[in-house]
Amino acid sequence: MKIQNDLILRAARGESIERYPVWLMRQAGRILPEYRAVRSNLSGFKELVETPERAAEVTIQPVDLLDVDAAIIFSDILVVPEAMGLTYQMVEKKGPWFEKTIRSEEGLKYAEFDFDIEDRLGYVTEAIRITNRELNGRVPLIGFAGAPWTIFCYMTEGQGSKTFSESRKILYTNPTLAHELLQRITKVTIQYLKAQIKAGAHMVQIFDSWAGILGKDQYAEFGLKYMNQIASAITEVPLTIFAKGAYNSVIEIAEMDCNTVGIDWNMDMAQIRQAIGEKRTLQGNLDPCVLYSSHSEIERLTNNMLNTFKSERHIVNLGHGVYPDIDPEKVKTFIKTVKNYEFKR
Ligand code: CP3
Repeated sequence: MKIQNDLILRAARGESIERYPVWLMRQAGRILPEYRAVRSNLSGFKELVETPERAAEVTIQPVDLLDVDAAIIFSDILVVPEAMGLTYQMVEKKGPWFEKTIRSEEGLKYAEFDFDIEDRLGYVTEAIRITNRELNGRVPLIGFAGAPWTIFCYMTEGQGSKTFSESRKILYTNPTLAHELLQRITKVTIQYLKAQIKAGAHMVQIFDSWAGILGKDQYAEFGLKYMNQIASAITEVPLTIFAKGAYNSVIEIAEMDCNTVGIDWNMDMAQIRQAIGEKRTLQGNLDPCVLYSSHSEIERLTNNMLNTFKSERHIVNLGHGVYPDIDPEKVKTFIKTVKNYEFKR
């Protein structure tokens, strides 16, 4: 099916664009009262994720209500460990909690790594097919997965953490186990992304939310090594790598076979552009907290950011997911500012 607004795909490939495309990480979610209404009719977050018709509905909401240039499939990175057999609960106001964790060779028994993706994650591919049917080519649909390192964090720690010290401990006490688990996660993640692409995802993004808790050498060994396998394997559609906090590794990431590199708000866009040149598209990076300020301040700070771009190779986004208590009207101001920006050539 022909995509009417394919700006984001062109920007990712480094082709010519009329203006910068814009979307928000976590745009499908709690900021929208319309999302909360759909969710309140179900038992909770997980039922929403596992019900393709409803997942498709909330995926499309930000396209209708916020006028973003792409949809991102409503799901979670944690569906992958769950498909492996580590089920989780999404605890209200606390986040994910896994009953079983993998902290030893013994623990590997708790998980399976060789299974049919359609069989266990068919609800995601079905949601992708329904979303595309309903979007009818209005905007591209982004698929996604967690990076092996971030998935490893949840499978070993078993819950969110500021330090993930249980996860990092294993890198010192049992690096062999760490590599074994990371390699198995990587293999499943590649199959999962390919299944999403086959179902109709027009581009895919890898979220390495916990990249920033490792030093440069450890991130190269336990993070980038596996990220690189994914980057090499995904050849069908444009790929974005977003490694939050990986300031020391942005150049290495840009050298991987990806189209777009995600940049968080602590990173210096101009400096990164200078270092990598024109070879990759950069995505980001407004501080999500800017959206707590006034409409005029949002406009000013968004324009300031856009003024630092020295290339067409940009996809505009926040530096991380939008916070759930942000007023959707503020999000609209951000999006409008990007769309009205006078594009310099
Ligand atoms: O709009 C979109 O971006 C698509 C949906 C999406 C969700 N999670 C839905 C969600 C995406 C892309 C994710 C990715 C995700 N999930 C990441 C990587 C991105 C990042 O933020 O760093 C991570 C680390 C997770 C794991 C996760 N899921 C946590 C830690 C939590 C609890 C914290 C929180 O935000 O509530 C979730 C829950 C979650 N995932 C919600 C949503 C909409 C909130 C659940 C609800 O509706 O109550």
